Amino acid sequence: MAEDKVSIFDTTLRDGEQVPGCKLNSKEKLKLALHLEELGVDIIEAGFPVSSPGDFESVTQIAKAIKNATVCGLSRAVQKDIEIAAQALKYAARPRIHTGIGTSDYHIRAKFNSTREEILQRAIQCVKWARTYTDDVEFYAEDAGRTDNDYLARVVEAVIKAGATVVNIPDTTGYCLPHQYGGKIAYLVNNVPNIDKAVISCHCHNDLGLATANSIAGVIAGARQIECTINGLGERAGNTSLEEVVMILKQHKHLGLHTNIKTEKLNPISHLVSDTMRMPVQPNKAIVGSNAFSHSSGIHQDGFLKDSLTYEIINPEEVGADSSKIVLTARSGRSALAYRFQKLGFQFDRNDVDVLYNEFVKVADSKKEVEDEDLLKLANQYQPEAVAI
Ligand code: KIV
Ligand code: ZN
Repeated sequence: MAEDKVSIFDTTLRDGEQVPGCKLNSKEKLKLALHLEELGVDIIEAGFPVSSPGDFESVTQIAKAIKNATVCGLSRAVQKDIEIAAQALKYAARPRIHTGIGTSDYHIRAKFNSTREEILQRAIQCVKWARTYTDDVEFYAEDAGRTDNDYLARVVEAVIKAGATVVNIPDTTGYCLPHQYGGKIAYLVNNVPNIDKAVISCHCHNDLGLATANSIAGVIAGARQIECTINGLGERAGNTSLEEVVMILKQHKHLGLHTNIKTEKLNPISHLVSDTMRMPVQPNKAIVGSNAFSHSSGIHQDGFLKDSLTYEIINPEEVGADSSKIVLTARSGRSALAYRFQKLGFQFDRNDVDVLYNEFVKVADSKKEVEDEDLLKLANQYQPEAVAI
């Protein structure tokens, strides 16, 4: 199968920054935007220009500084929003206006007190306004995850006819199951006559922990853009995590899909975003968590030390992480203990390790992790003349 490119639309600086406590100033946003461009993202959603003068300024500065990636500004289906987004993007080499409206019956009734027909007209109108400023217009059908497929297809067809070049199908509430989200994209591919005139984009939230799975289901069904954030930051339980979708496509080559992301930059940018946004990364986070390449149970350690492929599907270097770690706990085994002694410079034979192991498990039962200094103590107690080589 020929490899197809999936564009990576990073929204760390917009959906990610909406997280309470993650607010960034213009200088911080600009710095992250430059790193995102270095990482190889195709589109940077720089902010929501109408939301505050500070965000307008951030989007303007990013638009001026970014040379290769497309810079995108969010707006509602409101003329003023679109006009302000266009002003902020004025200096961008590749500007994109991202505009749209809620299309689920929940949104149509509760948010807009409106009807499907009226919302369809507003959708068409906002795309037309945006097209007066730029040829690159992305339309979002907010809460598409809970929008009736037939109505969604009508909206998508109409906005493409009005000039949308990208159609974003957000699962705003993180409600869909992967087969439902993939099915929704397939429905659009098969039922929107002009769908070949636009790129379909996946924008998934993680309320049920399915954002990554749903985005992958979306691209398998024909979408060619994924909206995601570093470390999966975003409203509530977050957005699709950039590092996860990129590595899934890289690992599963049989899908025939690829991105332009320089994967060795994933861990460095994860740390930078976490530090700048003051938002720690959970240790067991895929790809970028501190435990992502740690092995602590005896069975895993033994296999890993014989051949890393037994328990690691990614080489840490490939994602810019520190080398794999053999962590010593009460669940660790003799091979791991011998390996760690060896790293400290001690060459113990099998019998030595058997004796030391009995002492080691006593120490390990009394604490969460056995450190180098504990091992040095054990080695010196067992064989005081043992000297590190
Ligand atoms: O989740 C969502 O629907 C959004 C849109 C504004 C694109 O973030
Ligand atoms: Zn969102």
